[in-house]
Amino acid sequence: MNKKTKIVVLTENDPNYMQVIQEAGKILREGGLVAFPTETVYGIGANALDEEAIKKIYLAKGRPSDNPLIMHISDLNTLDKYVNDINEKSKQLIAQFWPGPLTLIFHKKNSVPDIITGGLETVAVRMPKHPIAYDIIRSAGVPIAAPSANISGKPSPTRGRHVIEDLDGRVDMIIDGGKATHGLESTVLDMTGTIPSILRPGSVTRSMIESVIGEVSYDNHLEDVTQVPKSPGMKYKHYAPKAPIKIVVGSDDRVTDYINSQSTINQSQGLKVGIISPIHRVDFMQGDVVLSIGSIDRPEEIASNLFKILRKFDEVNVDIIYSVDFQGEELNIAIMNRLIKAAGHEIITV
Ligand code: TXA
Ligand code: MG
Repeated sequence: MNKKTKIVVLTENDPNYMQVIQEAGKILREGGLVAFPTETVYGIGANALDEEAIKKIYLAKGRPSDNPLIMHISDLNTLDKYVNDINEKSKQLIAQFWPGPLTLIFHKKNSVPDIITGGLETVAVRMPKHPIAYDIIRSAGVPIAAPSANISGKPSPTRGRHVIEDLDGRVDMIIDGGKATHGLESTVLDMTGTIPSILRPGSVTRSMIESVIGEVSYDNHLEDVTQVPKSPGMKYKHYAPKAPIKIVVGSDDRVTDYINSQSTINQSQGLKVGIISPIHRVDFMQGDVVLSIGSIDRPEEIASNLFKILRKFDEVNVDIIYSVDFQGEELNIAIMNRLIKAAGHEIITV
C-alpha cells in the first residue's frame, strides 16, 4: 500500500478550519479514508454505508474483518434511520452523555450493512464530542465507521504523530488535532438486554451511567480484572508494545523491591528494562527507561498517558517492561482492562 496521504495540522480557530473539514467530509462521502481525532482516541473513518470503503479500513489497519465497527453519527435523525427500539433508558443516556465517549448497542434495522456489524443483529453507535470528529461526520452527511487509527495490535493512537507513524501512506488524509483528551476508547454499553451491560469500560463509568438509569452490570471478567483467565486459550494480546509487559501487584514497597531486583537480573542478562511508574515512585525505580504515567490520585491523567507510554517503549527499544498496577473503581477499571490486555494477562503478585 502506498497512497499519497495528505497530512493537515488543525485547530478549531484555524482560518482554514471549515475548508479542511469539508475536504475530509468529501473524501469520506466518496469512499476514501480519513484519520481524525476524537475525544477518546484517534479514529480511522470510512463511509459506513459503503462496503468497499469499509474493506479499505481493514486493509489499512492490517486487521481481519471479524470485529464489528461503531457507527459514528452527528444527529439523532440518523440514529432513527438505523436502529430499532430506542428505549427510555437509552433516551436518558443519550440526553446525558451524547455527544461524548459512550457507545450504545441497539437492535439494528435492515438498513445497516452487514459489513459494519459482522452479521450481528445489533449495531454500536456513538456521537463523538470532539469538534473535529463531530464536524467531519456532519460534513460527510453519512454515518462514519471509525475504529481506532492504529495498525492492528498496536496501542490506540492518542496523538497525531502516532497516527502518522502507523497510517502515513495507507489513508487519504490524516488530521492532526493534537491530543485525544481521554486517551482510552469509549465505554461500550449494550442496551439490548434487560439490564444494560458494560462490554468495554471507559471514561463514562458505571456509576455515571447508574446515576442516570439505575442498575447496569459489567460483562463477565471486567469487575475482577486481575484474575488470570482460567482457560489459557483466553490469553491474548492487544494494545501491546513490542516488548512483553509484566504487571506487578502488591504493596508499594514490595512491588518496588521486586521490580528493582528483576530489573537488575534482566540487565545482567543484557536486556534493556522499561518501567511504568506513578510519579511518586519514579525516583525509587531502577530500570533503563522509567516513565511516569502520572499521579495515582488522578486516574484521568493515567488514562490519558497509558497508550502514549506504551508506544514510547517501542521508540526506545526496551526488551522487557514492568508496570505497577492501577486497580480501583470507576476509571481505574478501564485503565486496568487495557493494561492487562497489553500485558497478555502476565500478572505477578508479590
Ligand atoms: O472511542 C472509540 O470508540 C473509538 C473512537 C475512534 O471512536 N473507536 C473504537 O472502535 O474504539 P473499535 O472498532 O476499535 O472498537 C469497537 C468496539 C469493539 O470492542 C467491538 O467489539 C464493539 O465495539 N462492538 C461494535 N459493535 C458491536 C456490537 N454490535 N455488539 C457488541 N460489541 C460491538
Ligand atoms: Mg481498536
